[in-house]
Amino acid sequence: MEAHIIVLPGDGIGPEVTEAALAVLNAIGAKFGHTFNTAEHLIGGIAIDETGTSLPDDTLAACLASDAVLLGAVGGYKWDDPSAKVRPEQGLLAIRKEMGLFANLRPVTIHPDLADASPLKQEKLEGVDLLVIRELTGGIYFGDRERWEEDGEAWAKDTMIYSASEVRRIADIAFKAAQGRRGKLSSIDKANVLDASRLWRTAVLEVAEDYPDVELEHVLVDAATMHLLNRPASFDVMVAGNMFGDIITDEASMLPGSMGNLPSASLGESLNRFGLPRGLYEPIHGSAPDIAGQGIANPIGTIMSLGMMLRHSFGMEAEAAAIEAAVDATISQGTRTGDIARGTQQAVNTQEMTAAIIANL
Ligand code: IPM
Ligand code: MG
Repeated sequence: MEAHIIVLPGDGIGPEVTEAALAVLNAIGAKFGHTFNTAEHLIGGIAIDETGTSLPDDTLAACLASDAVLLGAVGGYKWDDPSAKVRPEQGLLAIRKEMGLFANLRPVTIHPDLADASPLKQEKLEGVDLLVIRELTGGIYFGDRERWEEDGEAWAKDTMIYSASEVRRIADIAFKAAQGRRGKLSSIDKANVLDASRLWRTAVLEVAEDYPDVELEHVLVDAATMHLLNRPASFDVMVAGNMFGDIITDEASMLPGSMGNLPSASLGESLNRFGLPRGLYEPIHGSAPDIAGQGIANPIGTIMSLGMMLRHSFGMEAEAAAIEAAVDATISQGTRTGDIARGTQQAVNTQEMTAAIIANL
């Protein structure tokens, strides 16, 4: 098979972790006899510096013509000024919107050898295996916003907005995912206060009629953040709107102690040449400007994201499973980057971790 991948390294540790993932991709190509053509494009802060905009037109055009996109991270101190007109994060939101990637899949599992890195007690972690599905192109991150002056004061307003069909299509994906897993779906909202959440709950209930085999619960978002700490293993699939999903996925990503290992996939209705979703794959973590350029970033989140790409965008189940098994084996062998090293464990750098994973393929 021959596939065409656009790589968006972005800012901070983004270039380091995407380079690592590309080394794994080459190894997979050689082992399984595939040709992966890759081309790099600009996004985020570096794109602002070089072109004045966080998502240049040629980047978007290349992504829309690709079979899948691999992204590192965007953002950094340099572009953090809250009054700046252009911001790296706008590029990320724009590419998700322009590619129609409304479903963001964030799986959270814990390697048994890393359980002691978790801030939670060991007994809470038994059986933790959850998948958060976050709506990614709607809600308050895309609603109207406004700033104005009135009565000698500065005001600002953001709008949480959802249509019933937007909720139904993400709910449909979540119910299907639950069917393929342990058959439980937790829908997260704030229906005791927000109208947008009452619409969310009603639409989820409508979709539920098509999935009588899935056990559905509605959980208020504030309670969900509590249950994630108290009974994380009780969750199978969680589905949430854009902002609530953003918040609970950061919280859930701490269950394994470091977000460095966690991948994500963003999918929509647009299909690639294989008739599969033209997805965007990125680690959960950000650009980590504090360690950028040192070559010590944990590449596992991006390498696992690559695994999700092979599975969801190319239908390469065996290849994806090979990556996951190699990562598992590498962790079992005690190889650790600084973020997941504990006690007397000697931390390896990004290249050493990548080489160890490739050796286990
Ligand atoms: C994420 C990030 C982004 C988001 C930021 C960088 C805009 O936090 O992918 O979760 O909020 O979606
Ligand atoms: Mg986030």
